[in-house]
Amino acid sequence: MRLKGKKVLITGGSRGIGRCMIAELIKNGVKDIAVIARDKKNLERLSEDFEEANFLLVNGNVGDIGVLREMSSKIEDRWGRLDVLINNAGIVSAGALEDIPDEEIYDQVAINFMAILFLTKYCLPLLKSSRQAAVLNVSSGLGLLGMPFYTVYGSTKAGIRQFSDSLRRELQPFNISVTCVYPTATDTEMMQKFEGREMDSPEYVAEKSIQALMKKELHFIFGGSQRLKDNRLNFESPKKFDKQISENYEQLKEASRSHKAI
Ligand SMILES: NC(=O)c1ccc[n+]([C@@H]2O[C@H](COP(=O)([O-])OP(=O)(O)OC[C@H]3O[C@@H](n4cnc5c(N)ncnc54)[C@H](OP(=O)(O)O)[C@@H]3O)[C@@H](O)[C@H]2O)c1
Repeated sequence: MRLKGKKVLITGGSRGIGRCMIAELIKNGVKDIAVIARDKKNLERLSEDFEEANFLLVNGNVGDIGVLREMSSKIEDRWGRLDVLINNAGIVSAGALEDIPDEEIYDQVAINFMAILFLTKYCLPLLKSSRQAAVLNVSSGLGLLGMPFYTVYGSTKAGIRQFSDSLRRELQPFNISVTCVYPTATDTEMMQKFEGREMDSPEYVAEKSIQALMKKELHFIFGGSQRLKDNRLNFESPKKFDKQISENYEQLKEASRSHKAI
Protein backbone atom coordinates (compact mmCIF):
# COMPACT_ATOMS: atom_id res chain seq x y z
CA MET A 1 0.00 0.00 0.00
CA ARG A 2 1.36 3.44 -0.88
CA LEU A 3 0.69 6.10 1.73
CA LYS A 4 1.12 9.19 -0.46
CA GLY A 5 -2.01 11.34 -0.27
CA LYS A 6 -3.75 9.06 2.23
CA LYS A 7 -5.94 10.49 4.98
CA VAL A 8 -4.98 9.07 8.36
CA LEU A 9 -6.50 9.05 11.85
CA ILE A 10 -4.22 8.12 14.76
CA THR A 11 -5.12 8.00 18.44
CA GLY A 12 -2.38 9.07 20.85
CA GLY A 13 -0.21 10.68 18.18
CA SER A 14 0.94 13.46 20.49
CA ARG A 15 3.97 11.66 21.97
CA GLY A 16 5.80 8.33 22.17
CA ILE A 17 5.34 5.72 19.44
CA GLY A 18 2.32 7.54 17.96
CA ARG A 19 4.22 10.78 17.42
CA CYS A 20 7.06 8.85 15.75
CA MET A 21 4.45 7.17 13.54
CA ILE A 22 3.31 10.63 12.42
CA ALA A 23 6.91 11.43 11.39
CA GLU A 24 7.02 8.13 9.42
CA LEU A 25 3.66 8.83 7.76
CA ILE A 26 4.85 12.27 6.65
CA LYS A 27 8.11 10.75 5.36
CA ASN A 28 5.93 8.48 3.22
CA GLY A 29 3.90 11.31 1.70
CA VAL A 30 0.92 11.66 4.09
CA LYS A 31 -0.31 15.24 4.54
CA ASP A 32 -3.75 14.94 6.18
CA ILE A 33 -3.56 13.56 9.71
CA ALA A 34 -6.28 13.48 12.38
CA VAL A 35 -5.18 12.99 15.98
CA ILE A 36 -6.96 12.40 19.29
CA ALA A 37 -5.11 12.93 22.61
CA ARG A 38 -5.83 14.49 26.01
CA ASP A 39 -2.95 16.94 26.48
CA LYS A 40 -3.81 20.06 24.50
CA LYS A 41 -0.29 21.52 24.41
CA ASN A 42 1.28 18.33 23.01
CA LEU A 43 -1.47 18.16 20.39
CA GLU A 44 -1.07 21.75 19.31
CA ARG A 45 2.71 21.34 19.12
CA LEU A 46 2.22 18.87 16.24
CA SER A 47 1.30 21.67 13.81
CA GLU A 48 4.45 23.60 14.81
CA ASP A 49 6.77 20.58 14.61
CA PHE A 50 5.36 19.09 11.39
CA GLU A 51 4.63 22.17 9.29
CA GLU A 52 4.22 20.16 6.09
CA ALA A 53 1.12 18.34 7.44
CA ASN A 54 -2.50 19.48 7.88
CA PHE A 55 -3.80 18.35 11.26
CA LEU A 56 -7.38 17.70 12.33
CA LEU A 57 -7.19 17.67 16.11
CA VAL A 58 -9.63 16.48 18.73
CA ASN A 59 -8.56 17.12 22.29
CA GLY A 60 -10.17 14.44 24.44
CA ASN A 61 -10.19 11.02 26.02
CA VAL A 62 -10.67 8.01 23.74
CA GLY A 63 -12.46 6.35 26.67
CA ASP A 64 -15.29 8.83 26.05
CA ILE A 65 -17.54 7.64 23.22
CA GLY A 66 -18.62 11.25 22.54
CA VAL A 67 -15.01 12.13 21.64
CA LEU A 68 -14.82 9.21 19.19
CA ARG A 69 -18.11 10.24 17.56
CA GLU A 70 -16.92 13.85 17.35
CA MET A 71 -13.77 12.77 15.51
CA SER A 72 -15.53 10.48 13.04
CA SER A 73 -18.08 13.14 12.16
CA LYS A 74 -15.35 15.80 11.76
CA ILE A 75 -13.55 13.46 9.34
CA GLU A 76 -16.77 12.87 7.42
CA ASP A 77 -17.38 16.62 7.12
CA ARG A 78 -13.78 17.53 6.25
CA TRP A 79 -12.53 14.58 4.19
CA GLY A 80 -15.62 12.50 3.32
CA ARG A 81 -13.52 9.34 3.74
CA LEU A 82 -10.73 7.79 5.77
CA ASP A 83 -7.88 5.72 4.32
CA VAL A 84 -5.94 4.63 7.41
CA LEU A 85 -7.04 4.21 11.03
CA ILE A 86 -4.27 3.71 13.61
CA ASN A 87 -5.50 2.59 17.02
CA ASN A 88 -2.44 3.46 19.11
CA ALA A 89 -3.44 5.25 22.35
CA GLY A 90 -2.94 3.18 25.46
CA ILE A 91 -2.28 3.29 29.20
CA VAL A 92 -0.87 0.84 31.74
CA SER A 93 -1.33 0.17 35.44
CA ALA A 94 0.64 -2.91 36.49
CA GLY A 95 0.79 -4.85 39.76
CA ALA A 96 -0.93 -7.74 41.49
CA LEU A 97 -4.59 -7.79 40.44
CA GLU A 98 -5.91 -7.24 43.96
CA ASP A 99 -3.75 -4.11 44.30
CA ILE A 100 -4.88 -2.35 41.09
CA PRO A 101 -7.50 0.30 41.97
CA ASP A 102 -10.92 -0.47 40.44
CA GLU A 103 -10.89 2.75 38.46
CA GLU A 104 -7.56 1.84 36.84
CA ILE A 105 -8.89 -1.59 35.85
CA TYR A 106 -11.90 0.08 34.28
CA ASP A 107 -9.81 2.76 32.52
CA GLN A 108 -7.37 0.26 31.01
CA VAL A 109 -10.25 -1.72 29.53
CA ALA A 110 -12.04 1.43 28.33
CA ILE A 111 -8.99 3.16 26.81
CA ASN A 112 -6.94 0.21 25.55
CA PHE A 113 -9.78 -1.94 24.28
CA MET A 114 -13.33 -0.55 24.24
CA ALA A 115 -12.17 2.65 22.50
CA ILE A 116 -10.75 0.57 19.65
CA LEU A 117 -14.03 -1.29 19.14
CA PHE A 118 -16.08 1.90 19.11
CA LEU A 119 -13.70 4.06 17.06
CA THR A 120 -13.29 1.32 14.44
CA LYS A 121 -17.06 0.87 14.32
CA TYR A 122 -17.61 4.61 13.76
CA CYS A 123 -14.83 4.78 11.14
CA LEU A 124 -15.86 1.75 9.08
CA PRO A 125 -18.29 3.62 6.80
CA LEU A 126 -15.50 6.16 6.14
CA LEU A 127 -12.94 3.41 5.49
CA LYS A 128 -15.37 1.72 3.11
CA SER A 129 -15.52 5.01 1.16
CA SER A 130 -11.78 4.72 0.50
CA ARG A 131 -10.48 2.95 -2.60
CA GLN A 132 -7.80 1.23 -0.51
CA ALA A 133 -7.96 1.35 3.29
CA ALA A 134 -6.04 -0.06 6.25
CA VAL A 135 -6.39 -0.44 10.00
CA LEU A 136 -3.28 -0.65 12.20
CA ASN A 137 -3.85 -1.83 15.77
CA VAL A 138 -1.15 -1.47 18.43
CA SER A 139 -1.23 -4.43 20.79
CA SER A 140 1.79 -5.49 22.89
CA GLY A 141 4.07 -8.47 23.41
CA LEU A 142 2.00 -8.91 26.57
CA GLY A 143 -1.05 -9.51 24.38
CA LEU A 144 0.58 -12.73 23.17
CA LEU A 145 2.32 -13.80 26.35
CA GLY A 146 0.32 -13.61 29.59
CA MET A 147 2.74 -12.25 32.19
CA PRO A 148 2.19 -11.91 35.94
CA PHE A 149 1.40 -8.39 37.21
CA TYR A 150 -0.01 -7.43 33.80
CA THR A 151 -3.33 -9.29 34.04
CA VAL A 152 -5.44 -6.30 33.07
CA TYR A 153 -3.13 -4.60 30.57
CA GLY A 154 -2.25 -7.96 28.95
CA SER A 155 -5.92 -8.92 28.66
CA THR A 156 -6.77 -5.67 26.88
CA LYS A 157 -3.86 -6.24 24.49
CA ALA A 158 -4.85 -9.87 23.85
CA GLY A 159 -8.33 -8.53 23.06
CA ILE A 160 -6.79 -6.31 20.38
CA ARG A 161 -5.11 -9.34 18.80
CA GLN A 162 -8.39 -11.27 18.67
CA PHE A 163 -10.26 -8.22 17.42
CA SER A 164 -7.70 -7.79 14.62
CA ASP A 165 -8.09 -11.40 13.42
CA SER A 166 -11.91 -11.26 13.56
CA LEU A 167 -12.11 -7.86 11.89
CA ARG A 168 -9.73 -8.85 9.11
CA ARG A 169 -11.88 -11.88 8.29
CA GLU A 170 -15.09 -9.87 8.53
CA LEU A 171 -13.70 -7.27 6.12
CA GLN A 172 -12.57 -9.76 3.48
CA PRO A 173 -15.17 -8.60 0.91
CA PHE A 174 -13.81 -5.04 1.24
CA ASN A 175 -10.47 -3.53 0.29
CA ILE A 176 -9.45 -2.90 3.91
CA SER A 177 -6.35 -4.55 5.38
CA VAL A 178 -5.88 -5.09 9.11
CA THR A 179 -2.42 -5.19 10.69
CA CYS A 180 -1.67 -5.79 14.36
CA VAL A 181 1.73 -4.96 15.89
CA TYR A 182 3.16 -6.22 19.17
CA PRO A 183 5.88 -3.93 20.56
CA THR A 184 7.95 -5.07 23.53
CA ALA A 185 9.56 -2.61 25.97
CA THR A 186 9.93 0.71 24.10
CA ASP A 187 11.58 3.81 25.50
CA THR A 188 8.63 6.21 25.92
CA GLU A 189 6.90 7.96 28.82
CA MET A 190 4.83 4.80 29.29
CA MET A 191 7.99 3.02 30.43
CA GLN A 192 9.48 5.73 32.65
CA LYS A 193 8.40 3.88 35.78
CA PHE A 194 9.35 0.42 34.55
CA GLU A 195 12.41 -0.98 36.29
CA GLY A 196 13.35 -3.30 33.48
CA ARG A 197 15.67 -4.22 30.71
CA GLU A 198 16.91 -2.45 27.59
CA MET A 199 14.31 -1.06 25.25
CA ASP A 200 13.58 -0.41 21.58
CA SER A 201 13.44 3.22 20.49
CA PRO A 202 9.99 4.61 19.59
CA GLU A 203 11.41 5.66 16.20
CA TYR A 204 12.33 2.04 15.42
CA VAL A 205 8.95 0.70 16.55
CA ALA A 206 7.14 3.35 14.51
CA GLU A 207 9.19 2.69 11.38
CA LYS A 208 8.67 -1.09 11.52
CA SER A 209 4.97 -0.69 12.32
CA ILE A 210 4.31 1.66 9.39
CA GLN A 211 6.27 -0.69 7.12
CA ALA A 212 4.10 -3.59 8.32
CA LEU A 213 1.01 -1.51 7.52
CA MET A 214 2.30 -0.71 4.01
CA LYS A 215 3.15 -4.37 3.37
CA LYS A 216 -0.31 -5.38 4.68
CA GLU A 217 1.31 -7.78 7.13
CA LEU A 218 -1.21 -9.43 9.43
CA HIS A 219 1.00 -9.41 12.54
CA PHE A 220 4.38 -7.90 13.38
CA ILE A 221 6.01 -9.14 16.57
CA PHE A 222 8.87 -7.14 18.12
CA GLY A 223 11.49 -8.57 20.48
CA GLY A 224 13.52 -10.72 18.11
CA SER A 225 14.04 -14.47 18.05
CA GLN A 226 13.94 -14.93 21.86
CA ARG A 227 10.44 -13.48 21.99
CA LEU A 228 9.29 -15.80 19.20
CA LYS A 229 10.78 -18.76 21.13
CA ASP A 230 8.98 -17.67 24.31
CA ASN A 231 5.69 -17.35 22.43
CA ARG A 232 6.11 -20.84 21.01
CA LEU A 233 7.01 -22.35 24.39
CA ASN A 234 4.03 -20.62 26.00
CA PHE A 235 1.70 -21.97 23.33
CA GLU A 236 3.07 -25.52 23.09
CA SER A 237 4.22 -26.17 26.68
CA PRO A 238 2.65 -23.55 28.97
CA LYS A 239 3.72 -25.44 32.12
CA LYS A 240 7.37 -25.18 31.07
CA PHE A 241 6.87 -21.44 30.60
CA ASP A 242 5.21 -21.24 34.04
CA LYS A 243 8.37 -22.76 35.50
CA GLN A 244 10.55 -20.09 33.87
CA ILE A 245 8.27 -17.42 35.31
CA SER A 246 8.38 -18.93 38.81
CA GLU A 247 12.19 -18.80 38.70
CA ASN A 248 12.05 -15.04 37.97
CA TYR A 249 8.95 -14.24 40.00
CA GLU A 250 10.45 -11.73 42.47
CA GLN A 251 12.37 -9.93 39.73
CA LEU A 252 9.22 -9.58 37.59
CA LYS A 253 7.26 -8.37 40.60
CA GLU A 254 9.88 -5.74 41.40
CA ALA A 255 10.18 -4.56 37.78
CA SER A 256 6.43 -3.95 37.54
CA ARG A 257 5.99 -2.57 41.09
CA SER A 258 5.56 1.11 40.19
CA HIS A 259 4.83 0.68 36.51
CA LYS A 260 1.97 3.04 35.90
CA ALA A 261 1.30 5.46 33.01
CA ILE A 262 -2.36 6.45 32.98
N1 LIG B 1 6.18 1.73 25.43
C1 LIG B 1 6.12 0.41 25.44
O1 LIG B 1 7.01 -0.26 26.01
C2 LIG B 1 5.00 -0.31 24.76
C3 LIG B 1 5.11 -1.71 24.62
C4 LIG B 1 4.07 -2.40 24.01
C5 LIG B 1 2.97 -1.73 23.55
N2 LIG B 1 2.88 -0.38 23.71
C6 LIG B 1 1.65 0.28 23.24
O2 LIG B 1 2.00 1.29 22.32
C7 LIG B 1 1.01 2.33 22.34
C8 LIG B 1 1.71 3.67 22.48
O3 LIG B 1 2.43 3.64 23.69
P1 LIG B 1 3.62 4.66 24.04
O4 LIG B 1 4.68 3.88 24.66
O5 LIG B 1 3.90 5.55 22.90
O6 LIG B 1 2.90 5.48 25.21
P2 LIG B 1 3.03 7.02 25.65
O7 LIG B 1 4.37 7.53 25.36
O8 LIG B 1 2.52 7.03 27.05
O9 LIG B 1 1.99 7.73 24.67
C9 LIG B 1 0.65 7.41 24.73
C10 LIG B 1 -0.11 8.27 23.75
O10 LIG B 1 -1.51 7.93 23.88
C11 LIG B 1 -2.25 9.09 24.29
N3 LIG B 1 -3.31 8.67 25.21
C12 LIG B 1 -3.17 7.93 26.33
N4 LIG B 1 -4.36 7.77 26.92
C13 LIG B 1 -5.26 8.43 26.15
C14 LIG B 1 -6.65 8.65 26.25
N5 LIG B 1 -7.35 8.18 27.27
N6 LIG B 1 -7.25 9.35 25.27
C15 LIG B 1 -6.56 9.86 24.23
N7 LIG B 1 -5.24 9.68 24.08
C16 LIG B 1 -4.60 8.99 25.04
C17 LIG B 1 -1.20 9.99 24.96
O11 LIG B 1 -1.58 11.35 24.93
P3 LIG B 1 -2.33 12.07 26.19
O12 LIG B 1 -1.72 11.50 27.44
O13 LIG B 1 -2.11 13.50 25.99
O14 LIG B 1 -3.76 11.66 26.06
C18 LIG B 1 0.00 9.75 24.06
O15 LIG B 1 -0.10 10.48 22.88
C19 LIG B 1 0.09 1.98 23.51
O16 LIG B 1 -1.07 1.35 23.04
C20 LIG B 1 0.91 1.01 24.33
O17 LIG B 1 0.10 0.14 25.09
C21 LIG B 1 3.87 0.35 24.29
